[in-house]
Amino acid sequence: MTSVVMIAGDGIGPEVMAATRQIVHAAGARIDWIEAHAGLDAVEKFGEPLPDATLDLVRKHRVALKGPCTTPIGKGFRSINVRLRQGLELFASIRPVQTLPGIKVPYDNVDLIVVRENTEGLYAGMEHVVVPGVVESLRLVTRDAAERILKYAFELARHQGRRKVTVVHKASVLPLSDGMFLKIAQQIADDYPFLEYEQQTIDHVALDLALDPTPYDVMVMENLFGDVMSDLCAGLVGGLGVVPGANIGKRYAVFEAVHGSAPDIAGKGLANPIALLRSAAMMLDHIGQRVIAQRVEQSVRRTLQAGVGLTRDLGSEGNTMTITAQLIANL
Ligand code: NAI
Repeated sequence: MTSVVMIAGDGIGPEVMAATRQIVHAAGARIDWIEAHAGLDAVEKFGEPLPDATLDLVRKHRVALKGPCTTPIGKGFRSINVRLRQGLELFASIRPVQTLPGIKVPYDNVDLIVVRENTEGLYAGMEHVVVPGVVESLRLVTRDAAERILKYAFELARHQGRRKVTVVHKASVLPLSDGMFLKIAQQIADDYPFLEYEQQTIDHVALDLALDPTPYDVMVMENLFGDVMSDLCAGLVGGLGVVPGANIGKRYAVFEAVHGSAPDIAGKGLANPIALLRSAAMMLDHIGQRVIAQRVEQSVRRTLQAGVGLTRDLGSEGNTMTITAQLIANL
């Protein structure tokens, strides 16, 4: 048994979390779930969307599976997700994006990983009013954070036997910050001569991804570029309902889907649990329950291939219950 902190979140969070737990247990996962709260659920219980108790539980158990959390807007709260990532120093966001069977998309054979710096850039939260009507938002880039995310991307590529690393930047407009990022990337790339290495501007990458994403492999970039690119890449393989994610630090790891709390379908039993389920598979792999992780991934592929009981976001007529039943039957 491994203890894993479970943050169901709000909106569709509790629905996809319940389905995910049911499926991973049917797959044979040995997990002792420790319940913690964040999002609207935590505001109701603790008057605070990210209580210290939640952070403390993740610090204690080190691994968490998290559903989407809504940050109340206009009530003075900073983004829960940003605070969680900064508070636990989850410096790397990993989003593997692969073509899945049965989902009709313009390109087959997409197989890439977006590695996003998760702690600084515009998300450092340094914003102030210079004079009324003029607001300054600072995009922070430090050598230490750049080095650790770039090293992480190269190590991930080496460890997973990938062929290429692409550093995505806008150094022509940001010669100091992205210029430093590129310089560090080149130094690190020199230590990995067995990996192909390239530098591409963000606009060039956006065009390329629309024309043909298949040449891309591991892509690494700063926070906001990574945020935009990972949603774009999710769209290439079937949307937010199917793409998993992980936030990794030196000590802690929090696994979560790319999507948000989907208030438009919350409480209706329509949510697709696959994105959180695949995040749970990444978590199982992380805690050493690899065979179970593979079993879950295979069931996702079989279920999508068969096309029975799928949810509406996948162009079908099913719901959370029908897709969960199929995912269990296909284990
Ligand atoms: P969203 O991802 O919640 O929804 C975008 C669209 O995708 C909606 O039409 C929704 O119905 C659909 N969708 C998303 N996940 C789905 C699923 N699993 N199955 C079926 N359809 C799905 O993005 P939105 O509307 O921009 O954000 C809503 C809230 O979520 C916001 O309050 C935002 O702050 C929060 N959010 C939280 C995140 C997190 O906790 N990591 C990440 C992104 C947003």
